[in-house]
Amino acid sequence: MGQGTQALRLARAGHMVTGLEQDAAMLAVAHAALAAEPAGIRDRVELIEGDGRETGAHFGPGSFDVVLCHGVLMYVSEPDAMLAGLARMLAPGGLLSLLVRNGDALALRPGLSGDWSGALDAFDTVDYTNRLGLEVRADRLADLTATLSGIGAPLHTWYGVRVFTDGTEAAAELPPEEELELLLAAEERAGRTDPYRSVAALLHLCGVRG
Ligand SMILES: C[S@@+](CC[C@H](N)C(=O)[O-])C[C@H]1O[C@@H](n2cnc3c(N)ncnc32)[C@H](O)[C@@H]1O
Repeated sequence: MGQGTQALRLARAGHMVTGLEQDAAMLAVAHAALAAEPAGIRDRVELIEGDGRETGAHFGPGSFDVVLCHGVLMYVSEPDAMLAGLARMLAPGGLLSLLVRNGDALALRPGLSGDWSGALDAFDTVDYTNRLGLEVRADRLADLTATLSGIGAPLHTWYGVRVFTDGTEAAAELPPEEELELLLAAEERAGRTDPYRSVAALLHLCGVRG
């Protein structure tokens, strides 16, 4: 769940949300953010401290309509067991939503910034150093497609995320409203259009439980 950004958005949109996070400090940030919400939203959110690889200890099979695992898989060295656990929590027809670093296009970020040796090194690996300086791991579309089939939640659709804006600094100010709308429209279009989506910084995969 991290600091709860998406969890709170979903709760504000009317969903019942359970957030799982292993890091106590991050969980405290999420608790503080939740405490600032109106009661009607607070009541829709449950926050749990735990490891995403041990969902069986917290949740029964088939107990969720949607499971989101966004920006987490890069920290998990062997993701298949965790993904199987997440799929197990889904009700039939439920959606497993994954946001991962695109392991098929890792050379793009160093290449576009003029780091040629970094770009050459990135062709033959799924390991990379993220912007926080952490050694992490990307995922390839073909590998995740096979994994999703194997765990009973075959790939339904996929998108690229951050096709044009990967070079933008996280702390950069948002552009004015009108420009932001155009930027998002261009990103959204590219994210569902070949060949652009294949070289996005992130991949958004949606598996559906059979
Ligand atoms: C980028 S944040 C998640 C953001 C969140 N999904 C959102 O969209 O708002 C990544 C989080 O994953 C957590 N994490 C990494 N490995 C984990 C694991 N095995 N179990 C539970 N949480 C984990 C990290 O502590 C970090 O807070």
